Amino acid sequence: MALFDQLDKYVEGSRPRFEEWLGRLVEIPTVSMDPARRDDMRRGAAVAVEYLTTLGAQATIVETGGHPLVVGGWIGNPAWPTVAVYNHLDVQPAVEPEWTREPFKFAVEGEHYYGRGATDDKGPALTALLAARYAVEQGVPVNIQLVWELEEEMGSPHFAEGLAKAVDCRKPDSVVVSDTIWLAGGRPAVPYGLRGNLAARLILETARREAHSGLTGGAARNPLTELAAVVAACVDAKTGRVAIPGFYKAVRPLGRTDRAQFLKSGFQVKAFATAHQLTKLRVRDRLEVMKRLWAEPTFEVHGFVGGYTGPGVKTSIPPRAEAKVSMRLVPDQDPAAILRLFRTYVRKLNPDVQVETHGMLRPYVADLGGPYTEAVRKALRFGFGKEPAFIREGGSIGAVVTMAERWKAPVLFLGLSLPEHGYHAPNERFDWGQASGGMKAFAAYFDEVSRITGKTKGSRTA
Ligand code: BES
Ligand code: MN
Ligand code: MN
Repeated sequence: MALFDQLDKYVEGSRPRFEEWLGRLVEIPTVSMDPARRDDMRRGAAVAVEYLTTLGAQATIVETGGHPLVVGGWIGNPAWPTVAVYNHLDVQPAVEPEWTREPFKFAVEGEHYYGRGATDDKGPALTALLAARYAVEQGVPVNIQLVWELEEEMGSPHFAEGLAKAVDCRKPDSVVVSDTIWLAGGRPAVPYGLRGNLAARLILETARREAHSGLTGGAARNPLTELAAVVAACVDAKTGRVAIPGFYKAVRPLGRTDRAQFLKSGFQVKAFATAHQLTKLRVRDRLEVMKRLWAEPTFEVHGFVGGYTGPGVKTSIPPRAEAKVSMRLVPDQDPAAILRLFRTYVRKLNPDVQVETHGMLRPYVADLGGPYTEAVRKALRFGFGKEPAFIREGGSIGAVVTMAERWKAPVLFLGLSLPEHGYHAPNERFDWGQASGGMKAFAAYFDEVSRITGKTKGSRTA
């Protein structure tokens, strides 16, 4: 095929640029949830525009009530099909004590690229971008429109607003999202569903300042103890079963297709535990683990704030405590309905606890099959020589439901990250193997979608 004649050369030739561009981007600490990083967010958006225009693409910064959105790409001919490619350029904080290097200092070690955001999601974004440039250069009859979000890691609070304001952004015929992980190295995975998320802070204040527990203990209320009790009443620590009344009512039972897809995915409990360095698990049965990860809801505590955390024990009673929690949600749970159940329950447990919400993302599930699924399958086979497993995914990407609904277009996933790359983890990395294979896979994907015409099967949101 003529299209692919130059591809290997192009990919190899792109390596210095890929590394330089990824390095520059990783060194901008685009931590969206940190208000102190506002200027870095703007710098990140400006660099994204520079990369796009350097490659001859259009690019616009779209302002929102939060961090901006970058949209751009190549509209070669309005009559051609249009594919939107979604990535995000914001990252998680990098404060884990296990970092053995500077999180925002880019390091290349052989094939590996280290730094916060290298795999989630800056590396995949640049991979898709460079592949898009190749497809355009080769005259593939497809319009490619990149959508780069800068608030994904905070639950996409202004994404819908940004899309509505992005006047240059056409309604695409399909969307491809590159922000998910494989089952393992050499085991590509394409999710057809994501969990939703409902995040909240529980706050309790019982005094104006810290007090001596010898002088006040027994009579004073302890906010840490009380918040611990609220949390303990929400979830069974041993099984993970959520105890909020009505929480499971809307949960769709695992379907026959889901079960079959999970079973043939090649998922392995041991490899999963090793990749994430988990030393203990709640369950070890293969299907049970997959069900819990991809198709069941959860309640997690992410942080407990309050009291004395210095050396030794200080015998005081803290005035205030906070628990950072979130629930992963599955079809057909509605975040707004779950929030009402949660608020009612917390009020009953302890009327003094304030519940402050931090984003609500609906779960997503699409129909399997159809020409786009086939296009992803062929693309991954072309790029990596492997058949992907079609599974569901336990993580959340707020933009997915928004794009599916706004554009009424199928949303497909072509993720390139590996479990050992360490999403949100210390020493996060990406690698050239995934980038180079990914460029080939994306080039093949653009070619495949350029040949999909007419009315095709859409996707359904939950
Ligand atoms: N890339 C992830 C989503 C993801 C996670 C895909 C795990 C596949 C497996 C995304 O950047 C992410 O981390 N999303 C957050 C959203 C949250 C902050 C609302 C998540 O899932 O926690
Ligand atoms: Mn991501
Ligand atoms: Mn992430």
